[in-house]
Amino acid sequence: MTPALAGALRCPVCAGPLLLIGRSLRCPKAHSFDLAREGYANLLAIQKKHAADPGDGKEMVRARRAFLAAGHYQPLMAVLAELCGTLPHEKIVDAGCGEGSYDRFLYDALGEPQIVGFDLSKEAVRLAARLVPEAAFCVGGSFSAPVRDGWADLLLNIFSPFAGAEFSRMLRPGGHLIYAVPTARHLYGLKEVLYTTPYENEVKDTRYEGFDFVTEREAAATLTLEGESVQQLFAMTPYYWNTPAEGAARLAECDRLTTEIGFRFLVYRRQSE
Ligand SMILES: C[S@@+](CC[C@H](N)C(=O)[O-])C[C@H]1O[C@@H](n2cnc3c(N)ncnc32)[C@H](O)[C@@H]1O
Ligand SMILES: [Zn+2]
Repeated sequence: MTPALAGALRCPVCAGPLLLIGRSLRCPKAHSFDLAREGYANLLAIQKKHAADPGDGKEMVRARRAFLAAGHYQPLMAVLAELCGTLPHEKIVDAGCGEGSYDRFLYDALGEPQIVGFDLSKEAVRLAARLVPEAAFCVGGSFSAPVRDGWADLLLNIFSPFAGAEFSRMLRPGGHLIYAVPTARHLYGLKEVLYTTPYENEVKDTRYEGFDFVTEREAAATLTLEGESVQQLFAMTPYYWNTPAEGAARLAECDRLTTEIGFRFLVYRRQSE
């Protein structure tokens, strides 16, 4: 974390600005947060912490890292990077950044923008900080986010909870939000193995208070996965936790899986007050 990027962060206790002094972030009221070895900070407000280890667990985070590192979502990342490139993107916040594969891709593709990422999962943030040392990462939640008012030109929310009021607060007036949601057919081939009656994903409406809808871009592909990557994909989805045993057993028998994947990137502009 560089001093310039630390200046994007705010104190989770009093919301004051943070300054990087040595290996600690400090606010004017002397609240202090040490950087971990990997260079991230834990800025999760204690009272917001409902579980001992909130956010995605280690197993899920590591499955996502292995799957994304193999490049399976690269076509979707490329469309996202291209879309970001058409918008002001000097200062990017990635809310619910996960293990940082998207941030690595965007940092390289977009000419080294300033990136701040946060996620509830400490393991995800630890891996992200190692993968993208040029960015600033912290453990933090979207509903009480550790970024100061109006810092971001562009805020990304890729498959993580939508916290409209906080997203709006972190963006400068006129700044953009890209909200990535699954298409109706995203992972349908996986669901066909897991469930006897698979459903298509619900298609989200596009209106959010405080934002003007600008445009939408869809990215879709068909993946054929083999070996370990089949289980890695399963383990990084919410289906992992709510699939009946016989569905999981059917998938365990699969060495090869073909599935559609698809993201809708919804673009919004933050309204001015
Ligand atoms: C499906 S993963 C997506 C991660 C990453 N954006 C990606 O696409 O690879 C959802 C992430 O949201 C995080 N998360 C869940 N609730 C959150 C919250 N309230 N604030 C911040 N992150 C949250 C989880 O820990 C998890 O890493
Ligand atoms: Zn403080």
